[in-house]
Amino acid sequence: MTMLLRRRAGGALLLLLAAWLLAFAGAPALAQSAAEEQVQRQQTQPLNNAPVWREVRSGEPAFTTVRGPETEVLIQSQGNTWRTVRNGPITFYGGILLLVVPTAIALFFLVKGALKVHGTPTGRSMQRFSAFERFVHWGTAITFVVLAVTGLAILFGRHVLAPVFGNDFLAVLLLAGKNVHNYLGPVFIVFTLLMIVAFARDNIWQACDALWIRKAGGLATGEHVPSGRFNFGEKSWFWIGVTFLGLVVAASGLVMDFPNFGQTRATMQWANVIHATASILFIALSLGHIYMGTIGVEGAYQSMKTGVVDESWAKEHHEFWYNDVKTGKPGNG
Ligand code: HEM
Repeated sequence: MTMLLRRRAGGALLLLLAAWLLAFAGAPALAQSAAEEQVQRQQTQPLNNAPVWREVRSGEPAFTTVRGPETEVLIQSQGNTWRTVRNGPITFYGGILLLVVPTAIALFFLVKGALKVHGTPTGRSMQRFSAFERFVHWGTAITFVVLAVTGLAILFGRHVLAPVFGNDFLAVLLLAGKNVHNYLGPVFIVFTLLMIVAFARDNIWQACDALWIRKAGGLATGEHVPSGRFNFGEKSWFWIGVTFLGLVVAASGLVMDFPNFGQTRATMQWANVIHATASILFIALSLGHIYMGTIGVEGAYQSMKTGVVDESWAKEHHEFWYNDVKTGKPGNG
């Protein structure tokens, strides 16, 4: 191996040695610079260090300057779970349900059409709803529809309205909608309680309801099925919709509407999930009622608008109630 080659190999070796020396000499400097960096970051971004945040997110109680019920919790990680559930299954499956139900109703109407009165009107009318019952009904119905529209806008606005109206206009719309929702909620609750008191007596189970169930109210066959003042379909709407879901939506809504009773974030999140789920089910059920109360049953709308129905309508749809009124049975008309 020539002299020149040897000299070059020696030089490379020296260089390598110098590099290693530098590296080792520099290591403490590197370690030192990381510590300096940490101190510097503490100064420029106080507390911005992962260990502290991991601890904060653990939910372990610690000292914070937060006031109120959760003074020991800075970040409540369950908030992420809530957001995933609200923006995930509730929005997705709720959205599907609120598409499927009206589609099914529209298909039913296209195939079967409205439930018509077979007999000819007698010209004689009967009182079906008192002025108070109609006041309570329309007070509940109008507040319900406004709450449903503003509530659905809050839940689905980002997906459905933002592409149409843009984020800025949607923000204004949602702010107005949220205020209407928060103030109208308690009014709806008062009407719901009045409705439960006013209508509960006539929604009690009767023997004829069994027949109605067996014949599915004659909806599929179009045959006449006798019932009391309210048939089993209306009673189901009253107990499952108006009473059960109505009270669940009311209670969970009040928890969120008046957050000054020491509610924790978890309580508010649970109230929100329960409120959203129950309201979507309530709205889906109400579509059936609204369909029957508008185009689904000929003459039904009239009964809640004017309070009176023709005798032939009463006989065909609520025969046992018709008989009770005719025979002057107490508690009927
Ligand atoms: C715009 C929407 C609505 C319309 C068009 C409507 C229409 C009607 C009609 C026509 C009736 C009389 C049916 C009959 O003669 O048997 C009725 C009854 C009734 N409605 Fe509505 N309704 C609406 C919304 C609501 C809402 C939102 C609620 C409650 C949250 C409700 C609760 C009731 C109750 C409890 C009855 C008496 C039947 C029973 O007690 O079973 N309605 N509705």
